[in-house]
Amino acid sequence: MTLEQIVPWGRSKKEYMQMFNLSKEEILSKQILGCGDGPSSFNTEVDYDGGKVVSIDPLYTYSKKEIMQRIDEVAEEVMAQVRANADKFVWKNIPDVESLEHMRIEAMMEFLMDYEEGVEEGRYVDASLPTLPFEDDSFDLALSSHFLFLYSEHLDSTFHIEAIDEMLRVAKEARIFPLLTLENEPSAHLETVMDHFRAKGYEVAVTGTDYEFQKGANEMLRISK
Ligand SMILES: C[S@@+](CC[C@H](N)C(=O)[O-])C[C@H]1O[C@@H](n2cnc3c(N)ncnc32)[C@H](O)[C@@H]1O
Repeated sequence: MTLEQIVPWGRSKKEYMQMFNLSKEEILSKQILGCGDGPSSFNTEVDYDGGKVVSIDPLYTYSKKEIMQRIDEVAEEVMAQVRANADKFVWKNIPDVESLEHMRIEAMMEFLMDYEEGVEEGRYVDASLPTLPFEDDSFDLALSSHFLFLYSEHLDSTFHIEAIDEMLRVAKEARIFPLLTLENEPSAHLETVMDHFRAKGYEVAVTGTDYEFQKGANEMLRISK
């Protein structure tokens, strides 16, 4: 994946906690892997709190300067798209487009400040689903925010199953949010994925979340071995 194909855009720890129903205690006590965390500040903020998250993303093959330039290039276009599609979002926790832009830029700046140290500490790892460079059962929890199911038009059911199988090889549990596509439609892969993991004898549940920004995206998928 080249940098031109990546639209780096990142959410905060508060949003991750709401999306995945995570408590402060869980964040500090669990071994967490974030898959496709990009320039989110989740990892950074947990590190400030004294916890440790490992994030993987193909974005991490690039330098801080390259990622910063790419954020600069895409920010205006992403915000223009949000403005044009404002009716597809719930303006409750985030009251308006300006607050959203402020929140996202703040999260990405926090990530950038932490990036080089995080790479050295092994917290930002250049890797891509469906292959993870970790031993079996290295983590308690593997998360996917705004990657799986969201890009259902680009990634087929086989990719989803392989990716989640890999997340569950390295972690005891996987949580995925949202379950809608970019077009705010339920993902066509959800039933196939759920059937696959139920057939393996895993515990599979769709759980409501406190987080809803993309209209109707207020559920996550939880799969436990
Ligand atoms: C919309 S961003 C979401 C970022 C972050 N998780 C969040 O919610 O703020 C999607 C991320 O998926 C990453 N990505 C793309 N292909 C990937 C793959 N095969 N495995 C893991 N991450 C991937 C992109 O680089 C990008 O950072």
